[in-house]
Amino acid sequence: MAVFPPLREDLGVMAGYHSPQLDVEVRLNTNESPLPPPRAFLAELAEAVASIPLHRYPDRQAWDLRVDLAHRHGVQPEQVFVANGSNEVLQSLLLAYGGPGRTAAVFEPTYAMHATTARMTGTAVAVGERAADFTIDLAEVQRVFEEARPSVTFVCSPNNPTGTAERKDVVETLIARAPGLVIVDEAYGQFASWSALDLVGDEVPVVVTRTYSKTWSMAGARLGYLIGPSKVVSALWEKAALPYHLDSLKQVAGRLALHYVEDMEARVALLVAERERIQAALSALPVDTWPSEANFVLFRPRSRAGRDVWQGLVECSVLVRDCSSWPRLEGCLRVTVGTPEENGRFLSALKEAL
Ligand SMILES: Cc1ncc(COP(=O)(O)O)c(C=O)c1O
Repeated sequence: MAVFPPLREDLGVMAGYHSPQLDVEVRLNTNESPLPPPRAFLAELAEAVASIPLHRYPDRQAWDLRVDLAHRHGVQPEQVFVANGSNEVLQSLLLAYGGPGRTAAVFEPTYAMHATTARMTGTAVAVGERAADFTIDLAEVQRVFEEARPSVTFVCSPNNPTGTAERKDVVETLIARAPGLVIVDEAYGQFASWSALDLVGDEVPVVVTRTYSKTWSMAGARLGYLIGPSKVVSALWEKAALPYHLDSLKQVAGRLALHYVEDMEARVALLVAERERIQAALSALPVDTWPSEANFVLFRPRSRAGRDVWQGLVECSVLVRDCSSWPRLEGCLRVTVGTPEENGRFLSALKEAL
């Protein structure tokens, strides 16, 4: 009889990271863009796809895409690494700088995939706690650095799921004190008032990760990148990435999307204005909220249990993320900013559910 090997034990204890999808009219649970990509982009992409030599492997170094991204951010192409979503960028970093015998530091509550991907790559996880307002506390950072000497430290800013952004001086101090590489995850960077991209340099142990999934309306394409020191980027290409890991279609799509910066900036402005509208409306309701610099807002109903409010919203065909059983987020829900119409549906459903 065939024998299957037992699963790695350290994988068995992981909860995984899944956002349940329900068949609803208003889906505000996974922080995607509510709008499809611009029509002109889709037309340009369709035309470009017809001339891709699909019988050939892609450019292994994704050079043209890196040149264009470097141009956009005012850095060198040697400082750009690209992969299938920023999750794969994070995984590549952990493969290269984490691994058995090494530790990654996270400050909870934060994006669950940082700790999960660390564990998947055999990296130990040192957990620090955020302050009561969910910002990073430098005294706690110091404790974690001294006790765990992490090779990799994650800073998620704006932070998922709380929406809070770190202050620049806090991130600068954290980088100066870190015993290893600092990964600033800016999946929501375009919605924030400042970016750690300015802190990147070839002699600074910091990388900033970005994604096409949110503002670029390309979550379905799976494309992310990092800007960081050239030696980190070349280590990722040479030691952590699979050969030809980024397909030709995506390399082309990523380049063409950069022709639509103005459309993307208009979307960011719309979503930021809508976020402010949601926050203002929430402040008049019996819920606690936290200041958000992302495309979502965390809130905690005061009058009813979070789970019951989540269920009430589902009954009105509105799906938000239920964080109510996550540590330190008891009773909390997270709503992604949608179109003005979707946000209106959410706010009236919420009033009913409360
Ligand atoms: C903080 C953070 N980082 C990374 C990601 C992953 O993004 P991608 O779609 O680029 O893999 C997400 C997705 O929700 C996120 O919230």
